[in-house]
Amino acid sequence: MILRDSHHPTAPALRGPTVRVFDSAEAAAEYAADLVLEALAAAPGAGLGLATGSSPQRLYGALARRRAAGADFSSLSGFALDEYLGLPAEHPESYRSVIERDVIAPLGMDPDRVHVPPATDDPAVLAAFDARIGASGGIAVQILGIGGNGHIGFNEPGTPFSTRTHLTALSDSTRRANARFFDSLSDVPTHSVTQGIGTILESRRILLLATGAEKAEAVATAIESGITIDCPATALQLHENVTFVLDSAAAGASRCWPVCTAFIHIFRSTLALDARDTSPLTLATLAL
Ligand code: GLP
Repeated sequence: MILRDSHHPTAPALRGPTVRVFDSAEAAAEYAADLVLEALAAAPGAGLGLATGSSPQRLYGALARRRAAGADFSSLSGFALDEYLGLPAEHPESYRSVIERDVIAPLGMDPDRVHVPPATDDPAVLAAFDARIGASGGIAVQILGIGGNGHIGFNEPGTPFSTRTHLTALSDSTRRANARFFDSLSDVPTHSVTQGIGTILESRRILLLATGAEKAEAVATAIESGITIDCPATALQLHENVTFVLDSAAAGASRCWPVCTAFIHIFRSTLALDARDTSPLTLATLAL
């Protein structure tokens, strides 16, 4: 069930992100899967931008169910956002392994069409990765998660918005957050290669998925604060077609949400609306 459907214009010239809030992570993933299929259909030949991390896992599950119902991803190109430096490709936590496990196999994608950034600091090789995205038709929709510090991909706070695929150092907070995937903190790589914010912003559409209260502050900053390199996800406010798909916990710290909720209650009690009615129409009416 959708709880909120709103738009956050950032400045007159900018469209601002669309925000959709669902009552469960499962409902958010189902909606996100529909959005991915719609974006792929709207841009034939363009690729799918793939994120790792826990946030998109339910989405990949939902897309696998679409495959079982007839969707065909076998000729789709895929480009992962990032890769650790220093892990062998066959390491279970290399993003190449994660993408093979969570995306390529369940979606039936062709491994030769799915590209993970090369774990290198060679500028020519990194530039070739960006060029390959362009040469294969660009990205129809880039899937993103968000770090607790507002990072997207592995673009940490302080990353210029013009960056292309590049080698970067991981912040202490990111390494601590990702230590859950490794035996110990010291096993977490210190560096990674990530698509740059400039690379990400070239995608036709961007879908940011966030669930859980621990993401609420980063989500609120990404949507509602001024645009700043201190929170890389605020760069998304510069893109014309961004959708944040959230569960209610991840939307919890949004400064608009308590106000919105209060209006919903007033509106319902005034018009005796069904208490469960939080349809887009209702919310659009509230916004007038
Ligand atoms: C990781 C990834 C990001 C991901 C983020 C959040 O470090 N590089 O692409 O979005 O951190 O991960 P999770 O969804 O597991 O919280």
